[in-house]
Amino acid sequence: MERKPDKPQIYAGDIWKRFGITEHYGGYFATEELIKRCGIWPLQDILIIGCGTGYTPVLLAKEYNDFVMATDIDPRMLELTRERIIKEGVGAKVKTQLADVQNLPFKDNTYNVVLAESVLVFTDPLQSAREMLRVLKPGGVFGVNEVTVVGSPPAKSIESLTQFYPSKVQILSENEWRHLFEEAGFDEVTSIVHKLNYWKQLLSHLKIDGPRKYLASVYHMIADSDLRSIFFNKGLLWDTISLMSYMSYGLYTGKKP
Ligand SMILES: C[S@@+](CC[C@H](N)C(=O)[O-])C[C@H]1O[C@@H](n2cnc3c(N)ncnc32)[C@H](O)[C@@H]1O
Repeated sequence: MERKPDKPQIYAGDIWKRFGITEHYGGYFATEELIKRCGIWPLQDILIIGCGTGYTPVLLAKEYNDFVMATDIDPRMLELTRERIIKEGVGAKVKTQLADVQNLPFKDNTYNVVLAESVLVFTDPLQSAREMLRVLKPGGVFGVNEVTVVGSPPAKSIESLTQFYPSKVQILSENEWRHLFEEAGFDEVTSIVHKLNYWKQLLSHLKIDGPRKYLASVYHMIADSDLRSIFFNKGLLWDTISLMSYMSYGLYTGKKP
């Protein structure tokens, strides 16, 4: 008899990638808040880590008049970012480069600000934070939005959900994130944790991706028989629902000494 693989063949990232959609908790509301908390002003050199489909780099170039280096480990994401750059006419201000946050291809002391939204959870977060510190200029600021766990979710549900990702997913509490940034060498670490608002998340998708693209992707996800079998047969739907009340997002900032 054919042996079934232990892990599902489809990963969370692949699903969105198929449709050219990425997200972070809090959507564009959280992005605006993170930009404010970092104190970003015009004409700064900004590095974006794991830029996904490029909403934040384009926003910073267009609305804040900054110079942006948009990076991601996935070439497909950079293609999507470039499409957005061309569509929004910000090619003179936004560059793109393939880069792994854990080993950034940039010199020490290069950027005024480094931003990452829902990226470090997929990496070794301490190594990533150290790299972010290295490429920042002294006095430069990091801004990170990461999934932040509140309370003690059932371990079984977390284990089951992480099957949906190709690498270990780091689900840390606010104190653990703060400690990690301090251990990496940042000063003046700040944090604020928000509960996820599903209506705002939907609104953000409709604005960033456009209603047609977003609704078509949701329809295809529901219609995809592989996905349906993973969710329903393996109990993932229940695990996802049982984790919802524990999942928030944290906005973290800090300074390079
Ligand atoms: C959940 S998506 C978030 C994308 C985008 N920041 C957004 O908010 O829409 C995670 C992104 O991180 C990228 N990523 C994952 N591991 C990475 C790494 N080691 N270095 C750089 N980017 C990475 C993925 O390719 C993906 O684009």
